[in-house]
Amino acid sequence: MFPKMLKWAGIAILGLISLLLIVFGVFYYVYSTHVNKSYAVEVRSIPVPGDSATIAAGAHLYAIKGCGDCHGADLGGKVFLDDPAVGFFAGANLTGGQGGRPTGYTDTDWLRAMRHGLRTDNKTLLLMPSYEYAKLSDHDIAALVAFCKAQPAVDRTLPPMKTGPVGKVLAVLGKVPLFPAEKIDHGYQQPDKMPVTVTKEYGEYLSVSCTGCHNPRFTGGESPIPGGKRVSNITAAGNLGKWTAGEFITALRTGKTPEGLQLKNKDMPWSMTAQYTDEELQALFLYLKSL
Ligand code: HEC
Ligand code: HEC
Repeated sequence: MFPKMLKWAGIAILGLISLLLIVFGVFYYVYSTHVNKSYAVEVRSIPVPGDSATIAAGAHLYAIKGCGDCHGADLGGKVFLDDPAVGFFAGANLTGGQGGRPTGYTDTDWLRAMRHGLRTDNKTLLLMPSYEYAKLSDHDIAALVAFCKAQPAVDRTLPPMKTGPVGKVLAVLGKVPLFPAEKIDHGYQQPDKMPVTVTKEYGEYLSVSCTGCHNPRFTGGESPIPGGKRVSNITAAGNLGKWTAGEFITALRTGKTPEGLQLKNKDMPWSMTAQYTDEELQALFLYLKSL
């Protein structure tokens, strides 16, 4: 009796293990089809001026778009997630130093990466949030490229990125935005330049940077970062509906909200939003409050 039960228990456990292996094999296979998909996109070429005003505009964009969180303040690249289950992820070294951008990287390659989320072989980059930059005007994206190209070389070779088993499953289920190229409208025609004014339209243009966490409808909810803090509703239906423009600016500059909450930079990156100009924050407020 007893040995027989053991035998059946053994068979059940073996069965379960094989089932798990099969399921993981399917995830692994689907993951590799996402990574190996090749995109036939037409990268529209635009002029990239190298004058100091353009480079300064690019420096501001590099700060307010949070590029430094993943690529480092010196653009030399930085590890931003190292977890055996989720994976090892590092923003690329964007400079011309050792371990930096590929040799012969052209303006078209910069645009392919930032507007289409693609590497030079037309396969998707991993985790680079290009879907947040794909609609930037020609003026703004060119300024970013000009700024990046003008920075001094940094010699820093980062270990290759690696998606762990949990990372693969979450990516295939669409729980983490690992494949930027899939989220982009590759035929989108960007405007030449957005007038910098305190209008709802300009606020909407800037608000794309908030959608990664607050979601495209700004209603918040579950964090896109596994285990991250719940994201607030920042439409007029949330606390923001009761705030003045001044209170909004203070919250985004210091993390202190009128309700007395101190936002932590690791949850809500206010050291990044602190770098927006007054005009930009007022435009953002006008737009969010209209929702
Ligand atoms: C959430 C982190 C994150 C942010 C924010 C981010 N990047 Fe990236 N970026 C990455 C990662 C990771 C890679 C490497 C992807 C890969 O190799 O698959 C990358 C790759 C790139 C590449 C391609 C480099 C190459 O060698 O192919 C460029 C160009 C780039 N980023 C520019 C920017 C700029 C400019 C910004 C801000 C406007 C920015 N990134 C913001 C994570 C980020
Ligand atoms: C990396 C994710 C992330 C990004 C990007 C982000 N937020 Fe947040 N934000 C959060 C989280 C998480 C909270 C809630 C924090 C808490 O409750 O402690 C929050 C809270 C807020 C709050 C406070 C709301 C309240 O009711 O107290 C405001 C205002 C806000 N965000 C505005 C913005 C704006 C505007 C942008 C874009 C410029 C933005 N956030 C970008 C994650 C993010």
